[in-house]
Amino acid sequence: MDCFSYKNSSLFCEDVNLLDIADEYGTPTYIYSRKTLEQNIDLYKQSFKNKNSLICFSVKSLNNLAILKIINDKECGFDIVSYGELMRVLHVGADPNKIIFSGVGKSEMEIVEGINNGILSFNIESESELQRIERIASKLKKQVNVAIRFNPEIDSGGHDYITTGRKGDKFGISSENFVLKLCDFINNSSNLNLIGLACHIGSQILDIENYRLTARAIINLADKIKKTGIELEFLDLGGGLGIPYIDDIVPSAANLISLIEEEFKDRDEKIILEPGRSISGNAGVLLTKVEYIKDDFLIVDAAMNDLLRPSLYKAKHDVWNVSQTQNKEKNWTIVGPVCESSDVIIKDHKIHALENDFLAIKTAGAYGFVMSSNYNSRMRCAEVLVNGSNHYEIRKRESFSDLIKNEIIIND
Ligand SMILES: Cc1ncc(COP(=O)(O)O)c(C=O)c1O
Repeated sequence: MDCFSYKNSSLFCEDVNLLDIADEYGTPTYIYSRKTLEQNIDLYKQSFKNKNSLICFSVKSLNNLAILKIINDKECGFDIVSYGELMRVLHVGADPNKIIFSGVGKSEMEIVEGINNGILSFNIESESELQRIERIASKLKKQVNVAIRFNPEIDSGGHDYITTGRKGDKFGISSENFVLKLCDFINNSSNLNLIGLACHIGSQILDIENYRLTARAIINLADKIKKTGIELEFLDLGGGLGIPYIDDIVPSAANLISLIEEEFKDRDEKIILEPGRSISGNAGVLLTKVEYIKDDFLIVDAAMNDLLRPSLYKAKHDVWNVSQTQNKEKNWTIVGPVCESSDVIIKDHKIHALENDFLAIKTAGAYGFVMSSNYNSRMRCAEVLVNGSNHYEIRKRESFSDLIKNEIIIND
């Protein structure tokens, strides 16, 4: 359940009318509900009954510092994929011992920073990366924890661009024998400790049976590793749980965790999960204004540079008018001002709307602002956090000087 609902015919986030936010901060603006975020985290944490567990929020889904601070205060760890994400979470006081570094292309500098900051583990994705980490660790004379990201070759469904655990995907290592070979390499290194195994099979997963298959695959491999004399500290099942965008029927975090506890009931390893979307997705909306009506188009002031998912993945977001009326609804195609035909938020969407109305693009908290860009020299929008009846600007709308601040005119 999210905390966006109609009161007296106006859409509220918790106790704040979205019309007041439009008035104070303008549009387009991302609005996040603190209560929804916290409820989502509590559901994950409280659903674990028996297992030693750690929830590492996937920073790539939503990375505003104010949001990360809330998540850190909830004692979550973090799943990061870059130096920038590492610095963000350290900036809000994250415990390095709860930081997992994933990603196929970690640079030398990122590895050095991860090591020097004492993160919990690098989830390594290739032999070359493992060799690079070993070289750097021995040069720095440090002991470094690593986990191997295993690709169980499970097709978790969903859009091609967000499926990561199939044969031929760029993520993780598919062959069990190759994983065992890497375990040998780690065992023979005086600078590396193998402490875990990780999998992440995709995003927006609607059928949790895929996690059962993943759990069985990871347990099977952990047992083979155990026979080589290595005791793993954690098994990491990644993120990926789906959320309802429009018509999706989705399992809850509670369903997922009860499945995991069933599969892992005889295991001693800590269970790590790396949820992103299922914590941040329904906590945010993108508020936008109808600028023009033309034929069957509602032309709004938010565009693909603000919310890329519909253009990139053909993702569907529900769109609500902030003001409820008795006016007749009709089917509209809602588009932004960017000069691309793919700048479509949703097609054939039934809604009532007039010019100057405000619309809320729902479930936009995850992979929303974080994917925004300055395409067409549009300034990136503001982000606002709501807590009860209070609202806070947690990122200012960009100005023209922000837009050009790193550009240099050559006068020769
Ligand atoms: C390694 C890893 N962990 C966690 C996540 C978070 O996934 P989601 O937001 O679907 O929960 C991702 C997303 O792509 C990922 O690549």
